[in-house]
Order: sequence, then structure tokens, then C-alpha cells
Amino acid sequence: SWLILNLVVASDKVSAIFVDEPLLYDTFPPDFIWASATSAHQIEGAWNVDGKGPSIWDTYTSQPGIVAEGATGQTACNSYYFYQKDVDALKSLNVSHYRFSISWPRVLPNGIGQVNQPGIDYYKNLIAALKVANIQPMVTLYHWDLPQALEDMGGWLNASVADWFEEYARLCFTQFGDDVKIWVTLNEPWITAWQGPKYGPGTYTYQAGHNLILAHAKAYRLYESTFKASQQGKVGIALNVNWFFPGSDLIADKDAAERALQFMGGWFANPIFGSGDYPSIMKLKIGEKSAQQGFNQSRLQENTAEQKPWQKLLVPGSADFLGINHYTSSLTVNQPSNINDVSYESDQDLYSYYDPSWYGSGSPWLKITPFGLRNLLGWLRDKFNNPEMIITENGCSDTAGNLDDMLRIYYYKHYINNVLKAIKTDGVKVSGYTAWSLMDNFEWRAGYNEKFGLFNVDFSSPELPRTAKASARYIAQIIHDNGFRS
Ligand code: NOJ
Repeated sequence: SWLILNLVVASDKVSAIFVDEPLLYDTFPPDFIWASATSAHQIEGAWNVDGKGPSIWDTYTSQPGIVAEGATGQTACNSYYFYQKDVDALKSLNVSHYRFSISWPRVLPNGIGQVNQPGIDYYKNLIAALKVANIQPMVTLYHWDLPQALEDMGGWLNASVADWFEEYARLCFTQFGDDVKIWVTLNEPWITAWQGPKYGPGTYTYQAGHNLILAHAKAYRLYESTFKASQQGKVGIALNVNWFFPGSDLIADKDAAERALQFMGGWFANPIFGSGDYPSIMKLKIGEKSAQQGFNQSRLQENTAEQKPWQKLLVPGSADFLGINHYTSSLTVNQPSNINDVSYESDQDLYSYYDPSWYGSGSPWLKITPFGLRNLLGWLRDKFNNPEMIITENGCSDTAGNLDDMLRIYYYKHYINNVLKAIKTDGVKVSGYTAWSLMDNFEWRAGYNEKFGLFNVDFSSPELPRTAKASARYIAQIIHDNGFRS
């Protein structure tokens, strides 16, 4: 009967979410940032030309059986050659900004040391073309394509990786900082720590997480001390955070939902935007389990006494804005794990699931729950003292890539309207919104099957034409109106 109760409560919530919510007809603040996004490995192609070094994703996709249908990013949308088509597409969306990423091994083939001038030129040309179109760059330094040479030295597990990243950041700030006023250090460090090729379970996940936070903070402090006065830009980080509805009204399930938020968002946000340390619930859970499992210290790499004063100066407050990548929600219940499981998932003692009545998308993990975004923004406002936030990604996939993409229009309409409500009704400080993605592209392990584009790309034609979907025209109208007109 406990289970049945859960299901009933859950489906009540569903109808609360999905009765078409009334829209708020209002406008966004003046100077609101409107953007669309891509990342280097997902669009550029040209993986081995003009001196580019291989990235871990070039290596990964060359192994059989990892990516759907053996797809690779070797050509992708060929933006290395066709970037003007991307700029034209962006222009028609009316966006103020384009969020793209720099490929670390394109500018530093070995990750450190020798600079690859054609790689620098490529990004200079892209930025120049954006300038002509009156579009500002919002640039991500790391969107998952680590130079293979650094991976060969341990990648995100090597204690020197934060210094390597700082040097790469220095190169980018020096080369592009006169034109780039919004920098995103890391895209979704949660994914890198948890799913990055060799990180996975055990202590490694937390060790990679620790090094990612230090890498971010070092890049931020470098900008602050050396570039900010002359370049006048902002530096933030993009965290992926889902919303977790409690699966029932039981206190244990409400706690489980809060725990899920802390393990996903708090893990990176609390050190940078909160107390400067990991969330207390993570320290407690992982510490207790590690002891029971016979480790002589917590698997969550905490700061040693001698690191702590240094780290206090470095990490807390090391961001000018909080970037949020948000797509979906789940329902969460308390569920103790087997004590022998040494993994990030088991450390949380919970179970998350989707209500079967939720609308799906082209991605198994993406259910359409627009109200979750508003809840999440309110949670972040409360936990981290109402920081400036930019939605750095939000969007919806299908598998057809069809031009009459009504589901995507529904998605954008309701998610963007929930951002508007968060700003106007809840007092959340969101200064920008970014639609993922500008065009259909290489969706990592899903290959080209999950399509997120506002523009369709015809991958069967060597010219890879970009064609606007109905959602592109819909977003262009919202941006033109700076909101929702009745
Ligand atoms: C998150 C990632 O940053 C992006 O690379 C990916 O394509 C989208 N989400 C959709 O899964």
C-alpha cells in the first residue's frame, strides 16, 4: 500500500505540472541575454587537420561499440569550415549572444606547451564573423574534449590538471579576451567527474570533482588578478542540475529529493557559491559509508588542514555568475543502498524515476517538466544567496529532426515562461537564457540520433545545409518581443 500511495501522490503532482499552465504575459528585463549554444566537439569536425591534437572524444569514438552506430565527431556539422552558416543561422534567431566552446587540443595540441596558430585563427575568424552580425561571444573553455596527451598523464585525476587548465585559460584570455566578455570555465563538471571515460565509481569520481573545482577556481583567480581590469568581462561555470520532486509526502522522501539536489548541484555550487566546502549531507553520507566500507578516510576528497586556508581564498566566491544547464526532473524516494556499493549513486541512498505519464523526448533521460525549472531557480536562490544566474543550456530532443517540431515549441514556450515567472514573481536574478542547441549535432554517446537543434542539419549532403525548424521561428519571435505578448 505504501507503493500505491506513492504512485497516487506522484500522479497528482503530474496533473499539477501538466495541466497546461497559464502563461505569464510580460517581458524580460532590458539587456536580457538571449543565446543559443553548441560545443566544439559536437559541431566542428576537422578533427585532425591544421595541427589539431586528438581529444579524448576522438579516441573514445574510434573504439567500436561505444557510440551509437559507430558515429564520430570527425566531420559533425563541419563548422570548422562552415562557421559562416552558423553565424547566419544565429542572426536569424535575433540572439544577442552565441555560446560556443574552444577545443583545448585545437589551440594546444598537447594540452600544454606549443600553441597551434591555425587553431587560434579559427576562433578569431569566428569571433570576427559574429562581430559583423552584432552577436557577442559567450565562450566555454572546457566542454569535455580534453587533449588526449593530458589524459595519458592521468587527465582530471592528475593533481597538476588545475595548473594545466590555468595555462590554457591564460592563453584564451590573452588571445580572445578583448572580444569575449562572458566566459564559462567548465561545462557540467558533474558529467566529467561521474561519466568521464575512466572516472566512474569509487573514489575517482570525487577526486576528479575536486580537481575540476580547483581548475575552475584557478582560472577565475587568474582572470580576476590579471585580465579583469582591462577586459571587463565575467567568468562563471555551467552546472547541470535537474529538479527532483519528492516521490511522496513522507519526510524521508522529501529528504531524499533534497539530497539528490545537493549531490548533483550542491557538490560544485556549495564550494564556489556557498560555504566554500562540500554540502554537509555529502560529507556525512560519504564519510559514514567510507568508514563502514573500511576506507581509512572519506572517499570524498576533503581538504587537508594545510590545504584549507589556501583553498578558502581560492574557491569560495570564485564566480561572477552561476550558469545552469537544465533539461528535466524526476521523482525521488529514499532507498538505502547495499553497503558494499562504492559509488556516487549508492552514496546517495535514494532512487529516482520518471512518472510514466510525463511527456518524453528523443532522449530517454529527458521528460518535459517545465515547472521543475522554476522550482530549481527558487532553490538556488535560497541556497546560494540569490546569485546572478544565466541559463547556459535548456532544450529538447527528438529523433526525427523534423521541421514542424511542435513538441520543441511546447517545450520552449513553457520552460522560458517559467524562467519569466521566476524573475518576475519569485525575484530570482536570471540575466540570460540559452537554447540548446543551435543545430542538430553529435550528441555524444547517442551519436546523431538525438537531435536538439533549432536548425535541422542534412547530414547526407556534403554541404551540411542548416534549415530553420518551426521552433527557430518561435524563439526568434520571443527574442524579438523580449518575452510573451498577449
Ligand atoms: C548537456 C551538454 O552540455 C551538451 O553537450 C549536450 O548535448 C546536451 N546537454 C544535451 O544532452
